[in-house]
Amino acid sequence: MTKRVIPDSELIINEDGSIFHLHLRPEQLCDNIIVCGDPGRVDMIASYFDTRTFEVSSREFHTIGGAYKGKPVMALSHGIGADNIDIVMNELDALANIDFATREVNDNLRQLTIIRIGTSGALQPELKIGTPVIAVKAIGFDGALNFYANRNSVCDIDMESDFCDNIDWNPMFACPYIVDADAELVSRIGKDDMTKGITITANGFYGPQGRYVRLPLTEPTLNSRLEQYRYKGCAITNYEMESAMLQGLAKLMGHKAMTVCCIIANRMNNDATPNYKTAVEDLVKTVLERL
Ligand code: URA
Repeated sequence: MTKRVIPDSELIINEDGSIFHLHLRPEQLCDNIIVCGDPGRVDMIASYFDTRTFEVSSREFHTIGGAYKGKPVMALSHGIGADNIDIVMNELDALANIDFATREVNDNLRQLTIIRIGTSGALQPELKIGTPVIAVKAIGFDGALNFYANRNSVCDIDMESDFCDNIDWNPMFACPYIVDADAELVSRIGKDDMTKGITITANGFYGPQGRYVRLPLTEPTLNSRLEQYRYKGCAITNYEMESAMLQGLAKLMGHKAMTVCCIIANRMNNDATPNYKTAVEDLVKTVLERL
C-alpha cells in the first residue's frame, strides 16, 4: 500500500525545517514535556533543569529544552484554550511521528509523556486555594475533540449521556466530551498530596465558566448544578480551559497525558487570589521529581 504524503497545506513546515507554530525542529523534541499556559512560567520551570540545550519562542509558544536529574525534558507554553491545544498536540505529534523529508507517517510511532501544570477555579466549597487537583476525568465544553473521527473510542460515552441528562444540558452549547487522564501517570504523579477530581475544560474564562461581570448569562444556575452533580460518587472539582482536549488528542494519537492544576479561585465561596506563584512553583518542583 502506498503511504499518504501529507500535503504542504495540511502540515506547514517553516523554511528552517521547524514546525509552523511551535518553531521546533524534530531533533529538538524530548519525550517528557511539561506544558503550561503562561510563556513566562516556562522560564520558572526551566530554572530547575540541570542543563539547557535550546530555547525557542514564537507567539505564545515558548519552549526550553534540557535535562532534569539526567532525564531529557522540555517545558513548553500553550497559551490559553483548547484551540491552542489542538495546535500544540498536532505539532508535537508531527515532530514525533512524521518524517519531515518525505511527509509520511513513520513506521514506528514514538510515545510522548505530556504533563500540564495549570491554574484553576474550584467548584466545591471545601477545595482551598493552593490545592493541586488532578483532572482524572476532563469534560470538554469546547467541542473541539468532536471534529476528530474515533472520538468515541477515547471518550466515556456512558458518562457523557448521564452528564447531559442530569445537568439538563443546553443544546445550544457544544456537545460535551469526557476523557480520562493516563492512569499510569495519575498514579505516578498524583500521591496523597493531590486531590483527584473531575475537571471541566471551559471554552472561555467568563461566561462559559458562569462569571457574571456585565453581561447576563443564559444559564445562571449552571455552576450550582455542576457542584451538585455526582458520577459514580465523584464530584466535579474544578474549571480550567485545556485538559479535556489535551487528554483526548493524546489518547487518539497514542501519547500519555494528564493535567494537574493549582486552585487559584473558589467559585462557590467567591474567593480568589492573584498571588498563586509560590503554590504553582511548589507544584512544578513536585511534578519534576515524579516525572
Ligand atoms: N483558570 C480558569 O480557567 N478558571 C479559573 O477560575 C481560574 C483559572
